[in-house]
Amino acid sequence: MADTNGIETCDYNTPKDPCAIVIFGATGDLAARKILPSLYALLCSGRLPDPSIIIGVSRSGLSHEEYRERTRQALVESNADMKCWEDFAPRLFYRSVDVNDVGTFTNLAGFIKDKESEFQTGGNRLFHLSVPPVAYEAIAQSLAHVGLAHEKDNWSRLVVEKPFGYDLESSRKLAAALKEGFKEKQIFRIDHYLAKETVQNMLMFRFANSIFEPVWNRQFIQSVHITAAESLGVEHRAGFYDHTGVLRDMFQNHMMQLLSLVAMEPPSIYEANRIRDEKAKIYRSLRPFPMDSLDENLVLGQYAAGMIKEKSVPSYVSEPGVSPNSTTPTFASMKAYIDNWRWQGVPFYITSGKRMSTKRTDIEVKFKEVPHSMFRNILGEHITANRLTLSIHPKEEVMLSFQAKTPGPGMCLRNVTMNFDYAMGHPLRLTAYEKVLLDVLMGDHTLFWRQDSVDLCWSYLTPMLKECECEEQAERLHLYKAGTDGPKKARGDW
Ligand SMILES: NC(=O)c1ccc[n+]([C@@H]2O[C@H](COP(=O)([O-])OP(=O)(O)OC[C@H]3O[C@@H](n4cnc5c(N)ncnc54)[C@H](OP(=O)(O)O)[C@@H]3O)[C@@H](O)[C@H]2O)c1
Repeated sequence: MADTNGIETCDYNTPKDPCAIVIFGATGDLAARKILPSLYALLCSGRLPDPSIIIGVSRSGLSHEEYRERTRQALVESNADMKCWEDFAPRLFYRSVDVNDVGTFTNLAGFIKDKESEFQTGGNRLFHLSVPPVAYEAIAQSLAHVGLAHEKDNWSRLVVEKPFGYDLESSRKLAAALKEGFKEKQIFRIDHYLAKETVQNMLMFRFANSIFEPVWNRQFIQSVHITAAESLGVEHRAGFYDHTGVLRDMFQNHMMQLLSLVAMEPPSIYEANRIRDEKAKIYRSLRPFPMDSLDENLVLGQYAAGMIKEKSVPSYVSEPGVSPNSTTPTFASMKAYIDNWRWQGVPFYITSGKRMSTKRTDIEVKFKEVPHSMFRNILGEHITANRLTLSIHPKEEVMLSFQAKTPGPGMCLRNVTMNFDYAMGHPLRLTAYEKVLLDVLMGDHTLFWRQDSVDLCWSYLTPMLKECECEEQAERLHLYKAGTDGPKKARGDW
């Protein structure tokens, strides 16, 4: 079906089951900036099941009214249109719970059940863990202990924010604790990158068009570059970041998801577990990092003082909350190989860093040069190869660059680009957090991490992390000036 602009349209599902949404960490940054504004936007657009209630949980001992006022302010700060506030506020409650005190969970269970019978939400429950990761295990176990994880004629779902562990061992320990009360099908591990429109579009682009797939392999592709660069520094997250670093913060989750979307095989049908099976196969095919030649495949960096948008910014080690001797990397670029038939020998350059020249996230597929240049007598041997760029930020677009003749009497080439602006003519869009919350409410796992993939990615990264976090880490770290494109060693095809 096509609309009047010739744009393909389709129906979308909205969740129907009434439910109670319980936010652990209700007074925190993520709740204020993302979770509450997203739930509010879903209500405003008629996508929040009716009736639904939202119960904010933390230790702060607020009254319902105090919490509503806090939420109202957070919505105003997020530029929400307040026209639905009168409908939203009466559904919002607050409950004081200390995750380390099981007794407070008994009170919480009683409160939830009272509100469920008052609002007729049918016993369906969504628990969103937006607390420090050390609290995840205790919450999951206590919820199970007071019977809130149990499903009979209702559903009970647990939403977990990254990080999913610190390394392979801690990730497995966390998974085991979550599974004491919740089955894998009840657990939703968020990677909001996956809910970005152009990231989702990648599967459509690859598998709903027949012209790209035949060249999507080692015969035609020279290299693939996956980049997530930020111009921001560590900001208010220093305490967390200095123990985490870029490899854990970005690579174990977002970058690995982008890699699998570019590299995976088409599943037989668009279904959550079939898609996640194909992703897991990619992670399983990653060539283990050669520890004896790590520096040939990995560049780590840390930002030094520099300029961003003509303003001086401090070095990483001078940021408030960062240890002055810190050797935490704020930049990494790795050369990864996938040992399978399609990708043998094709390097995937995966790069992410803070305080880089611009904020951009994209995937660039560099095709091979023409095998023989018939223009070599006038243009030389090398003709710039074709590139396909799937841009996620700042613009959501697809660009194909190719060679064309420069108009005029001479035989000159120019690099030209064909662009598709993803948003053009299509204003109806959800933010990434609205999309993930909508999917949890519908029980759709497609955009969420499955534990086997989490383990496979940690298995790949943990030996490298161990090697990098030894005493020689400082020698491996390349300082780069803030506002540049990272260490020189990691530019282009290194
Ligand atoms: N912020 C982001 O952009 C972002 C992005 C991706 C993932 N995440 C993840 O999301 C989670 C939350 O991040 P955040 O930035 O929102 O953290 P935050 O601002 O520090 O908020 C933490 C929340 O947890 C509550 N809390 C802490 N200890 C508690 C306890 N013992 N019992 C009950 N509640 C407790 C705090 O409230 P009280 O002090 O009132 O108890 C607060 O509401 C973290 O796991 C983080 O890694 C955050």
